[in-house]
Amino acid sequence: PVLVVDMGAQYAQLIARRVREARVYSEIVPHTMPLSEILAKNPAAIILSGGPSSVYADKAPRVDAALVDAGIPVLGICYGFQLLADITGGGVGRTGEREYGHTPTAVRAQSQLLHGIPENFSVWMSHGDAVETAPEGFNVCAATQQTPVAAFENPERRLFGVQWHPEVRHSEYGQQVIENFLYRCAGLSPDWTPSSIIDAQVEQIRARVGGARVICALSGGVDSSVAAALVHRAIGDQLTCFFVDHGLLRENERTQVERDYAASMGIRVVTIDESDRFLDALAGVSDPETKRKIIGREFIRSFEAAQRRLVDEADSEGEDIGFLVQGTLYPDIVESGGGEGTATIKSHHNVGGLPEDMQFELIEPLRELFKDEVRQVGLELGLSENLVWRQPFPGPGLGVRVIGEITRENLRILRAADAIVREELARAELDRDIWQCPVVLLADVHSVGVQGDGRTYGHPVVLRPVASEDAMTADWYRLPYDVLGRISTRITNEVEEVTRVVLDCTSKPPATIEWE
Ligand code: XMP
Repeated sequence: PVLVVDMGAQYAQLIARRVREARVYSEIVPHTMPLSEILAKNPAAIILSGGPSSVYADKAPRVDAALVDAGIPVLGICYGFQLLADITGGGVGRTGEREYGHTPTAVRAQSQLLHGIPENFSVWMSHGDAVETAPEGFNVCAATQQTPVAAFENPERRLFGVQWHPEVRHSEYGQQVIENFLYRCAGLSPDWTPSSIIDAQVEQIRARVGGARVICALSGGVDSSVAAALVHRAIGDQLTCFFVDHGLLRENERTQVERDYAASMGIRVVTIDESDRFLDALAGVSDPETKRKIIGREFIRSFEAAQRRLVDEADSEGEDIGFLVQGTLYPDIVESGGGEGTATIKSHHNVGGLPEDMQFELIEPLRELFKDEVRQVGLELGLSENLVWRQPFPGPGLGVRVIGEITRENLRILRAADAIVREELARAELDRDIWQCPVVLLADVHSVGVQGDGRTYGHPVVLRPVASEDAMTADWYRLPYDVLGRISTRITNEVEEVTRVVLDCTSKPPATIEWE
């Protein structure tokens, strides 16, 4: 892989994505990872990300200086550029002048890294310190008005750096800088494609599973469907899918899954109704993390029960079904604190929420992928556009959209409001533009209304429409007023217990997409 060393800013993910867009596989590692472990990953190239620190700051994140002598191509970006300069004997100074935002830049010399980029272009900068003198043996290949050393390279030692952020879209020729580094400087080829991902996974799954039987948690969403289709491609009818109705589904969801999926994907799907089990376990619980843990635990219990049933049905001599497929994605891993040094934001039910006495070995064929990559893999596997572009729905379902206690009554209210929202968004043909639009019931909050001649005292629901590329960051989606108006009128007319419809206009960060 190409390793992106996270120096502590939010840019590492973006860099990893850009590398993958160039069809080269990349992974993020924390800067605290020892050099020996980094080398054990056999990196084809290394990118040092930007970071919030000054190289002079106390506890500034650093990497082992021997990294630059390992013969691996290295690209330093922003803080990573300054760090690279510092390690290789260049001078980093506190210029005292910040450069921020769009900055005109000139290419000054023949360069591998800036090959094919015009002489003058504009980049996105954000830095206080600056490299004042390039290390010995390095060519300075770009400059800005304020920063005479804005990019440098030492092709013999295969070390490269840029002060700006080529990974952000505001930088002109950003993707080209990254591709130049990968293809020209590091000699890599763009061969990480949906079909190569599928081939590699199919081979791995076959080798791991052998003749054993495998079950899959099908949620009806994109991730688990693609995971199931991928495993099915590898082992065919050794796979059985279970669809757990945990009582936290949206209206009609179960019927739709039963109808659409089983038929069109050719995979065996067994529905198990576990709603009593989940809702009983959730009774009286309001704390979001506790809800998630309970749902994660009950999911696994459901599957264990399903497994036992399968074994009984098969009537085989103790044949073991030891594998469980899950559609866990890369962001789930990073956000659940799987990336060391990354704070735990939420226990996604399919990662942090797993009980410790779990009886399954997990197969997670998508754990290295971002959402848009999963969609590409899905299309390549022949899944329908409709399915592949379905809006995400969290595993814990409406359970994390009832703020307060999850009761059957609260679920009924939320389900009715949610169905109206989905209907109206589809009618307005906004499905594809909107990443998703959670509808949240504030069951803990009451609000006064007036209907007919009477006072009512019901609950607010919140609309949370967001636009996003990968759910790691999101912006609130500007729904047209007339659509908002229709949704509001319909919900308050048709769902008696709802007295108010409000709009959540917060981006992520600082808020998350779901309310819990
Ligand atoms: P947040 O709320 O973390 O959501 O900004 C990011 C994306 O993940 C979905 N989500 C989940 N999906 N299990 C899932 O399968 C979970 O526990 C979970 N929590 C959030 C959320 O709907 C959004 O698309």
